[in-house]
Amino acid sequence: MTARKIILDCDPGHDDAIAMLMANASSKIDLLGITIVAGNQTLAKTAHNGLNVAQLLDIDAKIYPGMPQPLVRQQVVAGNVHGTTGLDGPVFPELHREAEKLNGVQFIIDTLMASDGDITLVPTGPLTNIATAMRMEPLIVPKIQEIVLMGGAYGTGNFTPSAEFNIFADPEAARVVFKSGVPIVMMGLDLTNQTVCTPDVIERMEAIGNKAGKLFGDLMRFTLKTQFEEFGLEAGPIHDATTIGYLIDPTMFEMQDMFVEVDINRGPCYGRTVCDELNVLKQTPNAKVGKKIDRDKFFDLVADCIKTYK
Ligand code: RIB
Ligand code: CA
Repeated sequence: MTARKIILDCDPGHDDAIAMLMANASSKIDLLGITIVAGNQTLAKTAHNGLNVAQLLDIDAKIYPGMPQPLVRQQVVAGNVHGTTGLDGPVFPELHREAEKLNGVQFIIDTLMASDGDITLVPTGPLTNIATAMRMEPLIVPKIQEIVLMGGAYGTGNFTPSAEFNIFADPEAARVVFKSGVPIVMMGLDLTNQTVCTPDVIERMEAIGNKAGKLFGDLMRFTLKTQFEEFGLEAGPIHDATTIGYLIDPTMFEMQDMFVEVDINRGPCYGRTVCDELNVLKQTPNAKVGKKIDRDKFFDLVADCIKTYK
């Protein structure tokens, strides 16, 4: 079976780092490049973090920083969860890896335009890079095979009662993407919060005894603290890693087709993914929305990916 070609667009970010780890490890995935967006922290910090993770794990895929600001709104970051660096916890060796000069948005456009329409975009941060690429070169839209994203929720948000962080950080960009007509797989909080990394999970991955297992532990021990303080969660979910899990083994997931639109009206629902779970609007669904994950199988997969590292 040929590997799935993807571009991972992320804002490392603890769970983004796990998504990078898994995408690089799996033989079912052909990681064409990693584009970086401002989100969890400023672009300078998320790019620095992406380079550190790529260097530590010897990830061949190149790193392309993209958009430093959201399209319209004032920038928000998630230092309350990911710390001042955006990747607090792990200590990395001196950084030698350099980012590419080509902007991540241009990399997305160039790669898609040169393709046969067999590339999946995997955004795990705000959708600024993806939306900007669609606006700069509309011809890429029919070239995108699928968008498998972490973001949104059909239930409660996490950055506001209505909105999940990735969408809230750039609602206008999210509206562009959800209205683009590209087939979307949406891993929202209702699904991703089922992947909390409790201490037994952390100990399991650390016990693998390699650098990837140590990185997993250093990352998730930090979010143990912040996820409880911020959200009362018993541990940190690896939200973003569910996108890679889906690409590797979709049978681990229960999905539902839904019509989803993003609220960009300023107010209490700004940045909400309004998901028509009961199909009351009778609109054609534009997204497959994650509802349930087989948690045991998922963490077995995470462990298998970690074991591929030296
Ligand atoms: O709400 C969770 C999302 O926000 C994840 O992508 C996490 O990395 C943060 O960006
Ligand atoms: Ca993220």
